[in-house]
Amino acid sequence: MLTKIVLTGACGSLGSLLRDPLSRMCDELLSVDIADAPAELHEGEHFEKADVTDFDTVLRIVTGADMVVHFAGIADERPFDQIIGPNFLSCYNVWEAAYRHGARRVVYASSVHAVGMTETNAGAGLDAPHRPDTFYGLMKCMSEDLARLYWEKRGVESVCLRIFSCTAEPQNARALGTWLSHGDLQRLVVRAVDTPTTGFTRVYGISNNDRAPVRNDAAAFLGYKPRDNAEDWAAAILAAALAPDPSDPAQMRLGGPFATVPLGESGVAGIKATNVGRDEGQRPEEAAPGPGPDSTPKPNADKLPSFLSRKGMGG
Ligand SMILES: NC(=O)c1ccc[n+]([C@@H]2O[C@H](COP(=O)([O-])OP(=O)(O)OC[C@H]3O[C@@H](n4cnc5c(N)ncnc54)[C@H](O)[C@@H]3O)[C@@H](O)[C@H]2O)c1
Repeated sequence: MLTKIVLTGACGSLGSLLRDPLSRMCDELLSVDIADAPAELHEGEHFEKADVTDFDTVLRIVTGADMVVHFAGIADERPFDQIIGPNFLSCYNVWEAAYRHGARRVVYASSVHAVGMTETNAGAGLDAPHRPDTFYGLMKCMSEDLARLYWEKRGVESVCLRIFSCTAEPQNARALGTWLSHGDLQRLVVRAVDTPTTGFTRVYGISNNDRAPVRNDAAAFLGYKPRDNAEDWAAAILAAALAPDPSDPAQMRLGGPFATVPLGESGVAGIKATNVGRDEGQRPEEAAPGPGPDSTPKPNADKLPSFLSRKGMGG
């Protein structure tokens, strides 16, 4: 049992799933978000409304913490000046505060978009080099490097979770490989917290999908055993999904639509355009049928930079 865990981004779609399991792992869970407090708190949980881009605030809230689970940030692409504060400066604040207070570890919500330009068929392992697809992915790369620096120079452990598509159910054809179920997210975070020693570790946040495009073997020591598999939805999704176009870079890069969106513009919008069950929790077979192959819209195709043409991507 830990003494204190700080959870940032506690009101977010992922952070709110972590409050209950984390509250069971420590005497005090300090949940933090810039948004208003949740309606009810768990036993042992306290909430503070705070901005994690402010160093003095972060330094204060991390006082006495064993670990920080850092999930606050913007979960989409934005212009550089809008995203660097919440998605990178906040990370400096968290790791530096963890160091100054002697916290053992930071568990960090990184992203597939740190390696989003990697080819889907490359069989990428955890040693795949950083290839960000957006400023958002660049912030994840910088934060992972910050995490490594704080381990190698200052002895603060980190587990960077390269989360793919975390939704209640897989929402589109890409998610047959990239889905992370809510239950598996919770299992992954519990392992990132309760593993005795981690040093600096990265792990892909995906479920036990038959079509997973990445390998997690180097992080096997965490003992993360995903239980859910997007394949259970494959027949329904593939029946309703738009016909895939292999010449579309968004189909052939780990980052999906983020790999083709112009810098600074939303990648989530491109992902939503491919969703079969558009509402969270809506099963694919309940979704309205998609347009036929002839009317296949290519997300952001009208904005595709010329250097991302098929010829330019072929090398
Ligand atoms: N949802 C996914 O599938 C996914 C995939 C990869 C990575 N991630 C990462 O996981 C983390 C959480 O994602 P999410 O989907 O829950 O996003 P979300 O937008 O639902 O939650 C983010 C939370 O952070 C809070 N926040 C933003 N700026 C803040 C600030 N300056 N100070 C304090 N709190 C602030 C927001 O109020 C929000 O509650 C993000 O870092 C995101 O990049 C998510």
